Amino acid sequence: MSTLSPVLSAHWDEPDSFTIAAYKRHGGYGALAKALKSTPDEVIALIKDSGLRGRGGAGFPTGNKWSFIPQGDNKAHYLVVNADESEPGTCKDMPLLLANPHSLIEGIIIGSYAIRANHSFIYLRGEVVHVYRRVQKAIEDAYAAGFLGKNILGSGFDLELTLHAGAGAYICGEETALLDSLEGFRGQPRLRPPFPAIAGLYAMPTVVNNVESIASVPSIIEHGVEWFQAMGTEKSKGYTLYSLSGHVANPGQFEAPLGITLRQILELAGGIRSGHQLKFWTPGGSSTPMFTAEHLDVPLDYEGVSAAGSMLGTKALQIFDETTCVVRATLRWVEFYKHESCGKCTPCREGTWWLVQIMKDLEAGKGTEADLEKLLDLCDNIAGRSFCALADGAVSPIISSLKYFRAEYIQHLTEGGCPFDPVASTLFETAGA
Ligand SMILES: Cc1cc2nc3c(=O)[nH]c(=O)nc-3n(C[C@H](O)[C@H](O)[C@H](O)COP(=O)(O)O)c2cc1C
Ligand code: SF4
Repeated sequence: MSTLSPVLSAHWDEPDSFTIAAYKRHGGYGALAKALKSTPDEVIALIKDSGLRGRGGAGFPTGNKWSFIPQGDNKAHYLVVNADESEPGTCKDMPLLLANPHSLIEGIIIGSYAIRANHSFIYLRGEVVHVYRRVQKAIEDAYAAGFLGKNILGSGFDLELTLHAGAGAYICGEETALLDSLEGFRGQPRLRPPFPAIAGLYAMPTVVNNVESIASVPSIIEHGVEWFQAMGTEKSKGYTLYSLSGHVANPGQFEAPLGITLRQILELAGGIRSGHQLKFWTPGGSSTPMFTAEHLDVPLDYEGVSAAGSMLGTKALQIFDETTCVVRATLRWVEFYKHESCGKCTPCREGTWWLVQIMKDLEAGKGTEADLEKLLDLCDNIAGRSFCALADGAVSPIISSLKYFRAEYIQHLTEGGCPFDPVASTLFETAGA
């Protein structure tokens, strides 16, 4: 595996990388001109052939999702970009929007053309005001340059693009809760079917895609399917952003072909912070079961991570060294899920509350070994029995930490409290949890 493959991040170190002038200097909006010369169906076929899979977590093939939109139905269609990015550890879309917002805008115009949408939306996590301002300015510049609005590049294709700031709820990243929130309702997941491709925003056929998925589209149009397929592994094609955070010498974004390993990324990042060893890590944010040093050579693609018992998720590699108490880290994550539970269904609303109570006691060294079984039983009654995947994410850190670190839970009980030095492990606060 060659090391890095910067595409979206290729020019991030240039001081004006976020401007339309810099984007055009590097060939930006050339892919749009090319796409507009093809038919919408040809664009969909090309994205299908490339093997691009959604970068928002589940890895669903992007071209297939686009092809589900009914054609010739005389209805409005919408492309909605999910820029809610609120999972603990996940931090790729915000830097991408800050440094290279036009890659997303160009991708939106191409994607909207392909699914025959004339109005598209970006649903952005509202707390990141600096990113909101930057994306808004980029949209204004794209309108002024004739890339948005009426008759784009003389093609006859019209597109309006609206930037919407969410109010900072993790559940609004779930695509159907996002659509309710965008419509002005309280953000809670919708019952499916109907799926958004049939009845999404305002009950019209809608595609919801992650920022990175859509921002990857112009490069595929520009360089072609073979170029994209030459990177990655058999079923996980292309390049992607891996976000390394926590106890490492040089945290940051590492754009590499799918299938790179954590060992390779750590070599590029200068390793674990000096004098320390890797204890545990997440492959794709806090909702993906944790790994340990045993998993350093797992290929970080959809199949490799799943075969090893976790999920690639958002490729948020949160790294924790031996100073971190895994029970405390897990408690912090579970508190997050309890706080963000939208309350729509009982197993998640009540269950996450109970998980926190038990985890708090265990962390404080109270309880017995039987409580570990109670905890697992609760997890069993929450995962797969709740309305949406938030609840599955809530139990992931518990089940996986008990799988690898049961002895550490028991140590809390036998020692009557946390055996870790709270000062040495304070770096946990910076690890994205
Ligand atoms: C609780 C929850 C939060 C989510 N948050 C996000 C998010 O912030 N950004 C995102 O792209 N997808 C998020 N997703 C996944 C979306 O529901 C959806 O699958 C994704 O936006 C599809 O885009 P993709 O096909 O391009 O990956 C979340 C899912 C759940 C269950
Ligand atoms: S699983 Fe949790 S977040 Fe999802 S609908 Fe139920 S209560 Fe809401």
